[in-house]
Amino acid sequence: MSDAPAPVPDPILSAALAADLDAADFRSEPLRRLWGEEADDALARGMREPILRAIADDEGPLATLGRLLVLGMRQPAPAVAAALPTLGVGGLESLGLGRRDGETVVASALVRPQSFVDADGIGEWWIASDLDEVALDGVLPADHVLGVGGASRTLAEIIMPIEVDRALDLGTGCGIQALLVARHAGSVVATDISTRALAYAELNAQLNGVTTIEFRCGSMFDPVAGETFDLIVSNPPFVITPRVEGVPEYEYRDGGLVGDALVEQFVRTAPSFLNPGGAAQLLGNWESRGGQPALSGRAGLDRLASWVADDLDLWVVQREELSPLGYAELWIRDGGTTPRDAAFTPLLTAWLDDFEARGVSAVGFGYILVRRPAADAADMPPMRRLERLSQPVSNVGGALRAGMAAHDLLGHGLPEALVTASDVTEARHLLPGNDDPSIIELRQGGGFARTIAVDPALAAFVGACDGELTVMQIVAAIADLFEVPLVELWADLEPRIRQLVLDGLLLPRG
Ligand SMILES: C[S@@+](CC[C@H](N)C(=O)[O-])C[C@H]1O[C@@H](n2cnc3c(N)ncnc32)[C@H](O)[C@@H]1O
Repeated sequence: MSDAPAPVPDPILSAALAADLDAADFRSEPLRRLWGEEADDALARGMREPILRAIADDEGPLATLGRLLVLGMRQPAPAVAAALPTLGVGGLESLGLGRRDGETVVASALVRPQSFVDADGIGEWWIASDLDEVALDGVLPADHVLGVGGASRTLAEIIMPIEVDRALDLGTGCGIQALLVARHAGSVVATDISTRALAYAELNAQLNGVTTIEFRCGSMFDPVAGETFDLIVSNPPFVITPRVEGVPEYEYRDGGLVGDALVEQFVRTAPSFLNPGGAAQLLGNWESRGGQPALSGRAGLDRLASWVADDLDLWVVQREELSPLGYAELWIRDGGTTPRDAAFTPLLTAWLDDFEARGVSAVGFGYILVRRPAADAADMPPMRRLERLSQPVSNVGGALRAGMAAHDLLGHGLPEALVTASDVTEARHLLPGNDDPSIIELRQGGGFARTIAVDPALAAFVGACDGELTVMQIVAAIADLFEVPLVELWADLEPRIRQLVLDGLLLPRG
């Protein structure tokens, strides 16, 4: 367990800290300018020395707060007092973020600026969390409260930017997702099994002046029994961990169940907490089992799909797949144990034995979106998209929202007229000396950045979609041009046109 105290949220002291941080310009860009881009990037890779060298002679408020709160390092008490004139060292102690030790102040937690971009533009929060591996210089305690990491950022990017009345952030940790959805929700419930995490989350809401989040302690959906939401988001403790003695239960990343049972439980349970039309979005891992060859692709996705009732919409995007060895190594290292440590080999053995016991050949990672159909869409065919997409993506939340809207639109039939999305380009590949392309591809610039191979007829159709002519007028013209029966061409093109609408390459005319 952690030796560090839990923070003690207090709205007045948090406001005082926020005022001091604001006055010191304690934000991402000013800090990056202070110690330089290279040092800033090095910190993300676990090295704090470049920052320390860059600001070695600087005892000003920003440098002092940078060392104390970004790096978690002991600072002279007079310098901290000067950097926190409103809060004071006593106030920092009362919030549980630092402690006086003689003439110095010892950091008990990190507070870092965290910038974000959403539909409303660029913003920034201050996020307090436990001291990290670099500050602790060792293995993380099992009740560690994470700051904003790669998975947090991934979930933040995939959350659909939709206005909702009620949202739930399950497993809120430091509260980053709750803060994000609070920008578009009337009210948010943030839950966690860890009281330490909830203390951080509440303090972070106070620090950032957000008052619409309610914090509740408990496991999974227990704290919201009988309630329903329009949006549920979760970066749940999905990490698959062997249940044997000697392997710590990392509360911050591991829900204590066997294999991917926690993700299964979440996906099976979440729909009963959704209002009609409401969606649950989460990150997860899913195992491919039953002796399929390693990295077999779809087996894990099919298992996952079997957890979701047929009348619900389901969209899963598998971003990567790891072998059992790759997976074990990733998460053992993530806990701060490296192959140089004596504990590494026993942990690796435990992980590999655990996977072998269930016949796991690969573990998929990605995002899951489950939606309860809206009341007026109950008789429409539900969405069932299981995809493997590994290319770089952008604005995924927007792309998921658009994809769901396109699915709903197609439930009423193809729109009368379509326009080609502005981020679509066409690439033609020709054999040397040949005028006819052997490959034509449509490329999407944003969202899921899909590349779709098309034939000349579909390329001609997309090229003509400027919203002036109707879909049927364009298809009739192409049938004339290619001298093929209209009925046959339509039967061939129609499902592929629908897919381009679903994928966001073709949009309904304004
Ligand atoms: C991976 S962290 C995610 C934190 C934060 N939401 C983010 O995106 O950065 C998972 C969180 O789930 C919490 N947790 C673990 N087991 C839980 C359970 N059974 N029910 C609810 N929360 C749980 C952990 O305490 C931790 O804060």
